[in-house]
Amino acid sequence: MRYLFLHGVLAALPLSASAFPHVAEGVATRLTSASPRRSEKRTVTFDPAAQLVDVTSEHAFVPPNFAAGDQRGPCPGLNALANHNYLPHNGVAACTDITNQTVSVYGLGADITSFLAIYGAIFDGNILSLDPGYSIGGPSSVYQDILSGLGLLGTPQGLSGSQKKHESDASACRGDLYTSGNDYKVDINRFNEIYALQSNDASPSYDLDVWTGHRKERFLKSKNENPEFFYAPFAGVIASTGDFTFPPRMFSNKSAAYPDNGILDKDILKSFFSINGTDDNLVYTEGYERIPANFYKRAIGNEYTIPLFMEDPFSFASKFPEMFSMGGNTGESRQLRRARSGELDGRDLQLCGSAGGEQSLVFCVPGLVGCGSGCPEGWLQ
Ligand code: HEM
Repeated sequence: MRYLFLHGVLAALPLSASAFPHVAEGVATRLTSASPRRSEKRTVTFDPAAQLVDVTSEHAFVPPNFAAGDQRGPCPGLNALANHNYLPHNGVAACTDITNQTVSVYGLGADITSFLAIYGAIFDGNILSLDPGYSIGGPSSVYQDILSGLGLLGTPQGLSGSQKKHESDASACRGDLYTSGNDYKVDINRFNEIYALQSNDASPSYDLDVWTGHRKERFLKSKNENPEFFYAPFAGVIASTGDFTFPPRMFSNKSAAYPDNGILDKDILKSFFSINGTDDNLVYTEGYERIPANFYKRAIGNEYTIPLFMEDPFSFASKFPEMFSMGGNTGESRQLRRARSGELDGRDLQLCGSAGGEQSLVFCVPGLVGCGSGCPEGWLQ
């Protein structure tokens, strides 16, 4: 199987470049030579009463009942919301609920969450509904009833079935579909890799620097070990950035001492990634992502919005410009191939559903609107 590779198009970000071959280097240079806005002091005030996340009574932790059809998938943030009844416990949620709850529980910006929720409904759920939404795990029988779907776009696959559209290779702690056979459960080896980066530290804190190092290692390992490695325009370059910035920005516990970035220690990390056990014997239980007790979210008014999200690539770019590449291996590990601008012709930008194979579809939406990496499932059937 042969893939086409496009080097560093960030069309959905305000970083787009005019010539493709050296975009990654160019973007990285521009990012690292500019001054990050985070260095400008922002005043963030800690308000314990407003920031404490309720994990008692109706929001007490209840694990999923998979036998009864509950869905959990690749996103620890959404899995935890369903386990605490901030989203429906069955794991099938409306966009409006996903948007409201990610803002109110974690302090995610309304701009980011609205985009993610609608993107999810289009590519992983059922947008043709009075109440569009999607499963945070795999396909669910409650779709048609709850979301009033007409079935015109085929059976929605949910986030777990969103490979290349939403879910990517080189994830933070999930496996690559081709090499692991599963891309939505935690791969304990990958979790061990990030965990080990602070395990001997006197005061472990998994901050953005730590996640940046992990991202670099994850990308290089996938590129070197997965012959079918693919880093899609949206799922890879953009959405995958969230895999590595959301934990330090939103899983970290805020306090009067650390009102802005908080501290993400070992126990909190394990709790959000559904891990128990001691340092030398970490154990994963599928679907048990849990918001810890005494967890304080981001300060009100300091939500993680697109402008803040856009600052974080400074950290990645300085240490790892290759994160701005998109493309994949050509059937052999380490054979990363990138596209030149001339290769983006009609063959690769053909309309969804035409006979070029799924890989060419990777470029149909991003090529036209620059924000996706595939088509709603029904368009492919
Ligand atoms: C707003 C709606 C959201 C949607 C639709 C969404 C969707 C996803 C998807 C599809 C993945 C898999 C990406 C990949 O394979 O690389 C993912 C991963 C992830 N998400 Fe979310 N997410 C949302 C919100 C959040 C929030 C609010 C948080 C944290 C507070 C979060 C934290 C994460 C993390 C840490 C990962 C990486 C998991 C891993 O690699 O083990 N997400 N999310």
